[in-house]
Amino acid sequence: MKRAVHRLWVGGAALVLVAVVTVGSGLLMEQRRLARSVEVPVRPLALSTAADARAHGQYLYESRGCAGCHGLSGEGRRFADQGGVLLAGPDITPGGSTARYTEADWVRAVRHGVAPGGRPLRVMPSQDYNRLSDPDLAALVVYLQSLPAAGGAPAVLQWPLPVRLLYGFGFIDDAADRIDHTQAPEAPVAAAVSVDYGRYLALGCTGCHGAQLQGGPIPGGAPDWPAAPALRTEARKPVSGDAPVVARYADLVAFRSMMQTGRRPDGSAIAVMPFDAFARYTDVDLQALHLYLQSLPR
Ligand code: HEC
Ligand code: HEC
Repeated sequence: MKRAVHRLWVGGAALVLVAVVTVGSGLLMEQRRLARSVEVPVRPLALSTAADARAHGQYLYESRGCAGCHGLSGEGRRFADQGGVLLAGPDITPGGSTARYTEADWVRAVRHGVAPGGRPLRVMPSQDYNRLSDPDLAALVVYLQSLPAAGGAPAVLQWPLPVRLLYGFGFIDDAADRIDHTQAPEAPVAAAVSVDYGRYLALGCTGCHGAQLQGGPIPGGAPDWPAAPALRTEARKPVSGDAPVVARYADLVAFRSMMQTGRRPDGSAIAVMPFDAFARYTDVDLQALHLYLQSLPR
């Protein structure tokens, strides 16, 4: 009996020791991953002097999701507060951490997910912005630099312990891990109701819907997020009885209404997608995107 109790104690102590060592080394590895310096090839970006650059930059800022995480005036914004996760995008006006950004720093952060000095950004979804053409990225920067300086709110990045350990042990990638940094930016495409312009716009959907729009679980997404459905349907594994989601939006009116309201034709709400931003798409952008999605093989 005594021996059994002793064994239990030893077993219990060993388990606690293993847990402490695992947590300790996980947190250590988290620090190491965060402290790593990521080298990326930064292509020079000429800041646009085009007369409409600022207005175009504002449109991109508001319609491509930046405002949802950094605030409508770039002042910084808390965008997640749930289950021990607290996330806020920093002030990116000239009053914030980007005050002393050079052109190269903008390219490094927005296109590559890396802060000046090589620190990897963890939440900033640069994989969605990596393909932005030079004129589009330049317009964004011109707009952000023209904003009145806000109060300098810092980023807030807090996760519960299990998520920190998963990151430490390398099970969760940051944007810099997901991006092919050697790819050249997309050549500029004229805004028009064309399949090619729609294809360019849909590059901004690939961070969630997959590089080939093949769908799947969203990398780095919250545990309660549904998987993103396939938008390109020839690659999709058919689930019994379901039709490809894009078939619901064969009609432009249905597609426009979905993007502007966040609801399916049957009225049910669609989760996760940043509809505050998508509702601001111009009609040319909506039509081009629709044309492209409908042109994909099914
Ligand atoms: C899903 C939320 C989200 C979206 C969308 C988003 N950001 Fe961020 N961004 C963040 C967070 C959070 C940080 C803080 C750093 C990190 O992720 O580790 C950040 C960091 C940055 C930084 C680096 C700031 C610094 O401290 O050096 C820049 C620049 C930036 N974002 C610009 C943009 C622009 C421009 C867009 C749109 C094209 C955008 N962000 C879209 C969440 C977001
Ligand atoms: C932040 C991640 C994210 C981004 C960015 C995103 N999506 Fe989605 N999308 C999702 C998720 C998750 C679902 C499934 C939602 C659900 O089942 O409630 C979805 C569903 C859809 C659907 C199916 C809607 C339905 O009827 O069920 C379409 C169509 C769609 N997305 C198109 C797009 C397009 C086009 C873009 C780019 C302009 C885009 N998405 C960008 C995450 C995203």
